[in-house]
Amino acid sequence: MTFIVLEECIQCKHTDCVTVCPVDCFYEGPNFLVINPSECIDCALCEPECPVDAIRSEDDVPDAQRDFILINEELSKHPNWKRITEKKNALSEHEKWQGVTNKLSVLDRNGA
Ligand code: SF4
Ligand code: F3S
Repeated sequence: MTFIVLEECIQCKHTDCVTVCPVDCFYEGPNFLVINPSECIDCALCEPECPVDAIRSEDDVPDAQRDFILINEELSKHPNWKRITEKKNALSEHEKWQGVTNKLSVLDRNGA
C-alpha cells in the first residue's frame, strides 16, 4: 500500500507534504510532486497536510485518476525527478490552477 499524489498538485506544488514524511519519499518535477511507492510506509501523515487535497491512499484514488498510481511510480523512479525534503514556495500561478480538472495534459514529465 502507498499514498498517491493526484492531479490537484499539478501547477500548484504547495510542498507542505514533504515536511512531514518520515521516510522522505517525495520526488519533485517542474510542476508536480510524486510519491515513491517502494519507499512509502503508508503512515498517512502527508494526506491532511496538502491544502488542495491532492494526496490519497491508493485505495481511495478516484476512478478518473487511477492513471496517477502508475504515474507516481514511473516518475518517482526516474533520475530526473529529485528527492525533495524541504518546503518551498508554491508555484506562482497556483491560485489560477486550483480546482481546474483534467490537468494531466499540462504535466511536465521532466524528460521521464
Ligand atoms: Fe510519506 Fe507517510 Fe505520506 Fe507515505 S504516507 S508519502 S510515508 S508521509
Ligand atoms: Fe502537491 Fe499538495 Fe504536496 S499541492 S506538493 S501534494 S502539499
